[in-house]
Amino acid sequence: MSPNIYSTIFCCIVSFTFAQSLPLQNIGARQVIPLNGSWNIIIDPYETGYYNYRYEPSGDGYFKNKKPITKHDLIEYDFETSGTLNVPGDWNTQRNELFLYEGTVWYKRSFDYTLEAGKRLFVHFGAANYHAIVYLNGEKLGEHIGGFTPFQFEITDKVQQKGNFLIVKVDNKRYREAVPTVNTDWWNYGGLTRDVYLAEVPDTHIGDYTIQLERGSKDRISGWVQLSNETVIKNVAVTIPRAKIHLTGRTDAKGRFFFSGKGNIVRWQPEKPELYDVIITAGSDTVHDRIGFRTIETRGTDILLNGTSIFLRGISIHEESPTHGGRAYSSVDARITLQRAKELGCNFVRLAHYPHNEQMVRMADSMGLLVWSEVPVYWTITWENQATLANALNQMTEMITRDKNRASIILWSVANETPLSEPRLRFLTSLVSHVKSMDSTRLVTAALERHYIDETTQIINDPLGNYLDVLGCNEYIGWYEDLPEKTSRVSWKVEYNKPLIISEFGADALYGFHGDTLTRWTEEYQEYLYKQQIAMLKTISPLRGVSPWILTDFRSPRRPLPKIQDFYNRKGLISNNGEKKKAYWILKQFYEETQMKWGEKEKIAK
Ligand code: GCU
Repeated sequence: MSPNIYSTIFCCIVSFTFAQSLPLQNIGARQVIPLNGSWNIIIDPYETGYYNYRYEPSGDGYFKNKKPITKHDLIEYDFETSGTLNVPGDWNTQRNELFLYEGTVWYKRSFDYTLEAGKRLFVHFGAANYHAIVYLNGEKLGEHIGGFTPFQFEITDKVQQKGNFLIVKVDNKRYREAVPTVNTDWWNYGGLTRDVYLAEVPDTHIGDYTIQLERGSKDRISGWVQLSNETVIKNVAVTIPRAKIHLTGRTDAKGRFFFSGKGNIVRWQPEKPELYDVIITAGSDTVHDRIGFRTIETRGTDILLNGTSIFLRGISIHEESPTHGGRAYSSVDARITLQRAKELGCNFVRLAHYPHNEQMVRMADSMGLLVWSEVPVYWTITWENQATLANALNQMTEMITRDKNRASIILWSVANETPLSEPRLRFLTSLVSHVKSMDSTRLVTAALERHYIDETTQIINDPLGNYLDVLGCNEYIGWYEDLPEKTSRVSWKVEYNKPLIISEFGADALYGFHGDTLTRWTEEYQEYLYKQQIAMLKTISPLRGVSPWILTDFRSPRRPLPKIQDFYNRKGLISNNGEKKKAYWILKQFYEETQMKWGEKEKIAK
């Protein structure tokens, strides 16, 4: 089927499957009341709160007649005495009995709220992994599938002044048709893993907006503002005081205001991450944002940031907290992790393998790191399942909707290491066309497959490459394939005249385990592999970036080797306790040389 048919399918399935409005743009800037903190929970491995004994959905959760039930047909439940979990936060690292748990946990939080006349109220979730069903005061609001993107429900007509009870069923069971599917090399952290807010906005308010530097321009910005209530005509103003921009106008019949205008802009770049205060007003609603302006494009095998060719000195990162382990969610987590990348000499991070929390991408804007952001279309997805496609398209929509104003993000990735097939190509090309229909200002990539055409020649000719702006490719020569010395005998062929990022290479090393360069799991082996890999990478002419695997050791159920892995993937350059391994310094040195060679210092745009 042609891609646009897929998009049509997507619209039908999405409107049915994901019954919620797209989240408010820049939710953190609204009048919000966080519902973070201690929530009552019920651990429900057999989902007896949802299915009756014949396994038919009773669908009304742990309450009947709109009151929390205290006695269930089969067993008694009482939220008040069933224990608590902190929100935000995964449940795996909060309670030992939940460390490997995959199933349902019910969350309950009570609150009072007086909603002013002329205002609307939303409950907003930064993410819930993986399937959430949300109820307020005994009434189902809707549900959300996907563990790493925000969702919200309007509760204007449902909230009462006293005694509201919000109940969320979160189920992190893996299943074949999901996105990601059942097999992943990261921990399946379940729960309300990011902030939960109540957000109050005027009856007619700013629902969404986008604002970018026009491609090829140094000083003209353009974009649109979308009102929530499309039928209302409102005066809108977009003001960027420091750029001396003030654009006004009225929304059209669809509640949208398109704008364009010139101003004094210093373009955003890693060495000088200029952010501007942007103030958007529409009627009685005002939203403040901090936005950087830059352009990103390709020319042949070059990646051009603000018209200048760059090399992406990157590192891959999973969303694990450097302070408490488990899912990261705070600005403190983001700052520590990205500071580590900066100290390594990076100007680029690959946020693998799913959209990270909004604090991370906003911190990348502030600290000056370019970002590769991706959806968890990972390994062996059920390519021919329409609901799977709709799910992937929806997660991509929610990622781009949330982050389209972040200057740091230059690449949207549609897949990671997906085995070649016709159904896979159809699935991914529909994802690519959907990304481009949503955001024509950024580059599209994926971590592609590669293979040997003879004993020592690697080729990248994955047909998906035809549809991408930038080619990504993971390779583990010297770890999963042969020994590190093999890299000195390997040459590369790339079928496309496009920029290439080696989006993963690496080796496991247990911090503090030492031996010779051929003893696996030692720091010396990892260090030697990095030296060999870097020497090989320098021979690949279309190479314009690397994001080695990975900044920090991270938890994975696929890594059980006792005393070495203990459920950690050990490819980090830094241990999960924050200790730098010997290979860290090899990469740091390579990035210092690269920075000189590419004259990054001299490239600070005027
Ligand atoms: C793959 C995959 C990663 C995984 C890594 C590894 O390339 O993309 O998610 O962790 O290899 O095996 O360590």
